[in-house]
Amino acid sequence: MKKTIAIIGTGYVGLTTAALLSNAGFTVYTVDINKEKIDTIKTGKSYFYEAGLNEFVKKGVELGTLLPTTSVEEAVPQADIVFSCVGTPDKPDGSSDLTQIYAAAESVVKHAKEGLIFVQKSTVPVGTGKAVREHMRSTRPDVSVHYISNPEFLAEGSAVYDTLHFDRLVVGGEDNEAVQEVVTVFHELTRFAKSIDASEYAEYAAFYNGKLFNDDPQIITTNLESAELIKVTANAFLALKISFANSIALLCDTSGADISQVMHGVGGDRRIGKSFLYAGLGWGGGCFPKDVSGLLAVGQSHGVQLPIMESAVEVNQGMPEYAVEKLAQEAGNLPEKTIAILGLSFKPGTSDVRRSQSIKLANMLAQIAKEVRAFDPQAMEEAREHTDEEVLFTGTLEECIEGADVVVLATEWKEFIEYDWTSVQDKLKGTILLDARNRLDKDAITAAGMRYVGIGR
Ligand code: UDX
Repeated sequence: MKKTIAIIGTGYVGLTTAALLSNAGFTVYTVDINKEKIDTIKTGKSYFYEAGLNEFVKKGVELGTLLPTTSVEEAVPQADIVFSCVGTPDKPDGSSDLTQIYAAAESVVKHAKEGLIFVQKSTVPVGTGKAVREHMRSTRPDVSVHYISNPEFLAEGSAVYDTLHFDRLVVGGEDNEAVQEVVTVFHELTRFAKSIDASEYAEYAAFYNGKLFNDDPQIITTNLESAELIKVTANAFLALKISFANSIALLCDTSGADISQVMHGVGGDRRIGKSFLYAGLGWGGGCFPKDVSGLLAVGQSHGVQLPIMESAVEVNQGMPEYAVEKLAQEAGNLPEKTIAILGLSFKPGTSDVRRSQSIKLANMLAQIAKEVRAFDPQAMEEAREHTDEEVLFTGTLEECIEGADVVVLATEWKEFIEYDWTSVQDKLKGTILLDARNRLDKDAITAAGMRYVGIGR
């Protein structure tokens, strides 16, 4: 019989994992202290936007294999395996706030049955697992709980795809049997992935994240500390790639090279690869900024400086400002201009606006320009509370650009990229199009009489 699983935390990682495992034949309790979120999930829906997710939540609830609850007490005593998927926000000094990690571990161990496998999916600083394991042992010396680190690599916008067709599975822990139990759960998920029609969620993954199907994941088993460090190091490296591309973009602007052509050429070397070399506004979201600052903080606590990552942060912080400067150069007097901003989420395919560089840009322009309007296909509600009140929100792309002097592509949603930019001129007052993500066809737009401005091209 398949194991019973409890998943603590219903964010992007927790709810996606719960919904898919419940469709793959496991009985899955999905637990969150937030009653509103649990009530929404009970109706068969996700409370955030993620391609394909609603369908799996609905199916799980209908089958009775996805059991949403606010009660750890109800879920954990039934569970053979618990996945902890709670938040690890950063503190003002950049280090990770582990309050939720300890609270989840403590409430789980209080209700744990003998031999429970406790799987940490949340991103934590290296060394956390060992400390949490000791804390669990001293809270409940009468039960043995196996602590496993299983970092999550899913990206927002392709969360369903990434969970079903993961490139690699990293499982770290000291107890080999428990490690293998966790590997078995994910083998089941791969088996399920092969049995279903992926058309709804795969299109988004391919378009936004350049993913190709992978049904032969690498299984990587390690010790606890290595698994913990793999996660933050992978994210830091990706952030580094982007900041590197952005640094070279500045050189392109002064030398006449085109960053898209340069990175196409550079990424053609398989050792480097083409992904995460898109220059533009830089990185944001719920992971890269906090994982990089968390890595810097944990380095410091071990007496290890990482100047390479400090520079990556500095480059990233400067990118929205660079975009404003470039726009001012090209468009002239910004205080007289009406600017239309397309896209506010931190990246396309998600309604998440955490540390969105696009919102940072919108707020900067709102302080300078005559008028700033904005439109996003999914993130309007979330964006409102992070955006200066001077920014006017519009209901459609057309309303946003109507009569504008400048159009800014800030987040590269599919509908913006596929929009017919070559016949847009009669809707606008001006002719400038700032492609702040370098995703549009520069030649086609220039040929249609618009002034294309990119970052590094
Ligand atoms: C990231 C990791 O990709 C994922 O593996 C991990 O589990 C969580 O963190 P996510 O935060 O969802 O995922 O976003 P991602 O697609 O990695 O993009 C991060 C940021 O980098 C976005 O703001 C995006 O716009 C930016 N980016 C990405 C670039 O500026 N250029 C690129 O080439 C790629």
